[in-house]
Amino acid sequence: MTHAVTSPDRRPPRRDAHALLAVGLHKRYALGSATVEALRGVDLAVGRGEFVAVMGASGSGKSTLLHLLGLLETPDEGRVEIDGLDTSGLGDDALTELRRSRLGFVFQTFELIPNLSARENVLLPADMSGAGAAGRERLARLAAVLGIEDRLDHRPDQLSGGQRQRVALARALINDPVVVLADEPTGNLDSRTGHEVLRLLSHGVRELGWTVVMVTHDARAAMQAERIVFLRDGEVAGTLHTSDTDVQAVFERALGG
Ligand SMILES: Nc1ncnc2c1ncn2[C@@H]1O[C@H](COP(=O)(O)OP(=O)(O)OP(=O)(O)O)[C@@H](O)[C@H]1O
Ligand SMILES: [Mg+2]
Repeated sequence: MTHAVTSPDRRPPRRDAHALLAVGLHKRYALGSATVEALRGVDLAVGRGEFVAVMGASGSGKSTLLHLLGLLETPDEGRVEIDGLDTSGLGDDALTELRRSRLGFVFQTFELIPNLSARENVLLPADMSGAGAAGRERLARLAAVLGIEDRLDHRPDQLSGGQRQRVALARALINDPVVVLADEPTGNLDSRTGHEVLRLLSHGVRELGWTVVMVTHDARAAMQAERIVFLRDGEVAGTLHTSDTDVQAVFERALGG
């Protein structure tokens, strides 16, 4: 099955597979002579079209988990499957290709390239993965959904925070990823603008079939997801379904209650 590994885009879609599956993830970091156990055996399954929030205290392992799910780092133990494909043992080139073709990233600090226009920023992942033509076709639809059509020729410094994050979201979605991974996407936005970005995310999940895993400190943001996974000291401490709970309960749970 080397073909599947080197050319993930040509694999037939596995309708039975999870969008994302993490099994027994461990991650350790050396800190001087000590070792930090950032993750201690995390399991997570995300189905297609799901919106999952990840909460937990600072240092509980949220970003580490997102980095492993996003194939930006490799686990010390355990494995990550994307769309049914086991990524353990893949080389850097295969991981990079998978990352570009299957995953979209949104960061708290937007991470747009300052001297490129919004349009050029959005199209970058498409151009880098040789999918420029498909990207240009998707661009118009994404820009309309995200309300940035009249901002595409602006540079990031000519955009508001909310507009920047919507551009970053378009960039994350330009290659039609299996899953979007967002690390505190509203952390640098005021609450109204942040709410707008969240509304777009949940609209995309409900109406357009996006799959999203979002790290957040904000109980109200997490309520937009269907399920909230709580991390504590590198382990999954519990899960809440947002249909069965309220923002106050999420707030208290996030504080460790
Ligand atoms: N590159 C690294 N080197 C050493 N330690 C690290 C590294 N990255 C993370 N850690 C440690 O791993 C633990 C988990 O960090 P992580 O960044 O995943 O936490 P987090 O839940 O995202 O926190 P925050 O809410 O502050 O962003 C922390 O103790 C952190 O200090
Ligand atoms: Mg973090």
